[in-house]
Amino acid sequence: MHFLPSKPLPMRGRKMLKIADYLSEGTARTLLMPLCCCGTASRLNPEGGIYDARAAEVLRQVDYDFTRLRRAGIEYTMLCCLLREWHLDKLVRAFVAGHPEGTIVNLGCGLSTAAFRQQLGACRWYDLDVPEVIRVRQMLLPPEGGQQLVACSLLDPAWMEAVTFVPEAGALFLAAGVFYYFSEAQLRPLVLGMARHFPGGRLWFDAVSRRGLKIANLFVRLAGFRQASMRFAVDDPAELARWSPLLRVQGSSYYVDAPRQRLGLVTRLHVDIGERLGMVKNMTVDFAGRQGISAPAA
Ligand SMILES: C[S@@+](CC[C@H](N)C(=O)[O-])C[C@H]1O[C@@H](n2cnc3c(N)ncnc32)[C@H](O)[C@@H]1O
Repeated sequence: MHFLPSKPLPMRGRKMLKIADYLSEGTARTLLMPLCCCGTASRLNPEGGIYDARAAEVLRQVDYDFTRLRRAGIEYTMLCCLLREWHLDKLVRAFVAGHPEGTIVNLGCGLSTAAFRQQLGACRWYDLDVPEVIRVRQMLLPPEGGQQLVACSLLDPAWMEAVTFVPEAGALFLAAGVFYYFSEAQLRPLVLGMARHFPGGRLWFDAVSRRGLKIANLFVRLAGFRQASMRFAVDDPAELARWSPLLRVQGSSYYVDAPRQRLGLVTRLHVDIGERLGMVKNMTVDFAGRQGISAPAA
């Protein structure tokens, strides 16, 4: 595991970055799904709305055939992706306001532009991913201000020692579109290790129900990412709470409070079905503080 210097790696000439030369065909390439979704202007993602200009700029620098991905995506899958960013931004804004010197770690950051969408003030922001992704990130989204890149598997506990954590300042961990690709046997020790290492911290991730996992896997396959199989699902947040008394777990619907005015009829139908089946959830896990469980201020 290593931190990378903040200076950008030079792109070869002014050529676009050929993804196949840098990212293997496994989970690493799945970073193209949220990137494509956030960087593509559409009815759901209008310019001047939640459209992410930085993601659009990165998208233009990437040499990859997005045809299958675009064909596989219905408006609902795009909505889920955009809502994830919307929830994440809200969460980070609230955290920074309550913890002006806190630590934020974006686990499995891919080419997420979340750090660039925020006023981080004196907060520390770490973008962590496997080395091949961090190398690409350094070329396309070099860190600015209080941001740092960490090239490390999230399953390697070395990253916990490497990030600066001041318990009184608070810590927030984000895992957007990431935990799906791991087994419970891998995630359980990770989450428990984090709870012990970062008392009082908060972990946020998105999850689907077991039924939703089948649909999500179908989408990922149709989109051309055959070697990235999704394994982890949550039907009931209480399942996770049973992992350890150090955890307080909450799950909420993705769609609650989300703007619905731009949704077409079919997408609204998908949302209703998705909600009824509890398909996509925001998951919040609070780690017990030194004094026992007490949720950090939002
Ligand atoms: C679907 S992408 C999500 C990227 C990003 N969170 C976003 O929302 O744009 C999944 C990410 O998980 C990363 N990932 C997979 N296995 C990992 C591991 N063992 N350690 C760290 N990151 C990992 C992949 O490299 C990829 O960037």
